[in-house]
Amino acid sequence: MGPDDHVCYCYRVSLRKLVNYARRERPRHASQMSRCLDAGTGCGWCIPFLTRIWRDPDGVRLDDLDPRDYAARRLAYHGDLAHGKEKNRFEE
Ligand code: FES
Repeated sequence: MGPDDHVCYCYRVSLRKLVNYARRERPRHASQMSRCLDAGTGCGWCIPFLTRIWRDPDGVRLDDLDPRDYAARRLAYHGDLAHGKEKNRFEE
């Protein structure tokens, strides 16, 4: 995943925007990552990735994620939600 790929598809928030937000604002809680253009407040798919960015905005590496695979996994997540799986939530 590159800096201009979307981490939050619901609100079209890129990795670059999230990393810059986390570096600049240093939110105290992972859930405060949502203050960046409402990331994570839709389906919840991206919350684990927002948490990774929040934990280490200077060192986070998401280049191991293929954007197409990431999008496909999100679709599968939505299928799981339709079958009753609980939505991802921030742990706090
Ligand atoms: S992809 Fe971020 S809330 Fe849905």
